[in-house]
Amino acid sequence: MISQTMQDALNAQINLEQYSAQLYLAMSAHCAGKSFKGFAQWLTVQASEETAHATKLIAFLLDRGGRLELKAIATPPLDFGGVIQVFEATLAHEKSITGRISALFEQARTEKDYASEIALQWYVTEQVEEEAHVGEIVDHLHAVGDQGGAIWYLDSKMGKRAKG
Ligand code: FEO
Repeated sequence: MISQTMQDALNAQINLEQYSAQLYLAMSAHCAGKSFKGFAQWLTVQASEETAHATKLIAFLLDRGGRLELKAIATPPLDFGGVIQVFEATLAHEKSITGRISALFEQARTEKDYASEIALQWYVTEQVEEEAHVGEIVDHLHAVGDQGGAIWYLDSKMGKRAKG
C-alpha cells in the first residue's frame, strides 16, 4: 500500500503533467496563430505525451491501491512572444519538471518505497531526453534567429514530428 505522502505527491505530479499538456496546447495555438504550423504540430504532439505521462502515473497509483484525486488544472498564459521565447519557456518548464521528479524520486528513497522508485526511474530518463531535445531546438532557433527564411525551414522540419 502506498503511503499518504507518496499518494499526495503523485497526485500533485499528475496535476502538473496535465498542466504541462495544457501549457503546450496553449503554446501550440500561439504558434499556429503566427502561421508556424510545424512548431504548432510539434507542441501538439508534446501535449499528447504529457497526457500520456499523467495517464501512466494514474495507472501506477491505482495499481498500488492509491486514490486518484484530480484537481483543477491551472490556466496557462495566453501570449508567449516569439518562437524562440516559446521554446525557451518550454525548456524552463521541463527543467522545473525535472526538479519535481527528482524530489519525488528522493521521497521514494526516503520512504524505502522501492516500487515508486522504480516507476519514477522512467520519468528520470524521460526528463533527460526531453531537456536534451528541447535544448537542441532552442540552440537551432538561436542559430537561425526569428527573422528570415531559415526559421520557415526549421518550422517545416518540426512539423514532421508525428509522435514522441
Ligand atoms: Fe512530462 Fe515534459 O515532462
